Amino acid sequence: MDFFEVIEKRYSVRGYKNQEVEKEKLDKILEAATLAPTGVNKQPFKIFVIDTKTHKEELTKIYKQKWFTQAPIVLCIAADKTAAWTRPWDGKNIYEIDATIVMDHIILAATALGLGTCYIAAFKKNETINFLNLEEKYEPILFTPIGYIDAEPRDAPRKPIEELVEFI
Ligand SMILES: Cc1cc2nc3c(=O)[nH]c(=O)nc-3n(C[C@H](O)[C@H](O)[C@H](O)COP(=O)(O)O)c2cc1C
Repeated sequence: MDFFEVIEKRYSVRGYKNQEVEKEKLDKILEAATLAPTGVNKQPFKIFVIDTKTHKEELTKIYKQKWFTQAPIVLCIAADKTAAWTRPWDGKNIYEIDATIVMDHIILAATALGLGTCYIAAFKKNETINFLNLEEKYEPILFTPIGYIDAEPRDAPRKPIEELVEFI
């Protein structure tokens, strides 16, 4: 699949088949994550690969939508706030930017391999910290299920390009 096909094909998948994801595909997705750029190459993140069959109860407490645990795997990316680059002149720490770029690599790699995903920010943070036993320096940033698609895209019209882009 060519890159532009990948970004056109991707959508938020909110329904998954009861079908395993091949280890080779998961390995490729995780490798794509490690190739993501991060500020000053700090790589201040950790990816948790969660088996939904084993952890259905905990995951349901974190994000209650039924489709979340239909996929065989859920990934969570957490960022280390103490390891990420901070812009010295105004103190802006870029840990969330880094982690989001990593998640985007994961999601586009999964799409290219014929798998469905959905960015999830609306999770319960404290339940996540407890479940993953996260040290204080880590903040969970995003989740995604990864699995074979069993849902059509929802209507998600985009704003016209003129509204979003300004040439100055
Ligand atoms: C950072 C981020 C967080 C999101 N969080 C959620 C979420 O918690 N639950 C959900 O169902 N969708 C979530 N979405 C999916 C968006 O609603 C979706 O990307 C948007 O409506 C566009 O639709 P599309 O992804 O199908 O193109 C999130 C998307 C992004 C980029």
